[in-house]
Amino acid sequence: MLEERLKSVIRDIPDFPKPGIVFKDITPILKDQQLCGEIVDQLVNYLQGIEIDAIAGVESRGFLFGMLLANRLDVPFIPIRKQGKLPFNTISESYKLEYGQATIEVHEDALAPGSKVLIHDDLLATGGTVVAASKLLEKLGADIIGYAFIISLDFLQSEGRLTRFSDRIISLAR
Ligand code: PRP
Ligand code: ADE
Repeated sequence: MLEERLKSVIRDIPDFPKPGIVFKDITPILKDQQLCGEIVDQLVNYLQGIEIDAIAGVESRGFLFGMLLANRLDVPFIPIRKQGKLPFNTISESYKLEYGQATIEVHEDALAPGSKVLIHDDLLATGGTVVAASKLLEKLGADIIGYAFIISLDFLQSEGRLTRFSDRIISLAR
């Protein structure tokens, strides 16, 4: 089963990047091209029949599968980047995450108002990142139609933070 294989491959790194945090290292997934293909296949499977105009992914790990997924669905990819990285006019949003604080930005012309956008990230922890991404995209007029993660840290119980934007929350492992 894909979930079991993902959980066996994702490495726990204790006390990274701060004492008390158990970091989920997804890099071993990237060494297994078969597994990478199955991840995209499974996400596409879950998304069958859903109207999607674009996939948005958050720097940096959200770019890895976000672009693959967008390409497979034949829709544009919207990069949401950490502060100061996007060259054109941007809007921004600050947030807290499990081990710090950050600001993300998106280009002001990233999407047409009314676009149905699915947000992808590798991992859901506190939800701070994707809540901020959702606020950013909504400011541009996006309709957030769901979330797709590779893994969710269920003990943090953050999925409830996302339901005010969309209750379609896909996670390949919990
Ligand atoms: C990680 C991860 C998610 C976010 C999840 O990114 O890739 O984007 O944290 O945490 P949250 O649910 O508590 O917001 P990070 O900011 O560490 O950046 P990276 O992808 O560049 O490693
Ligand atoms: N992002 C936020 N919390 C994380 C964790 N525990 N492991 C990997 N990425 C994360």
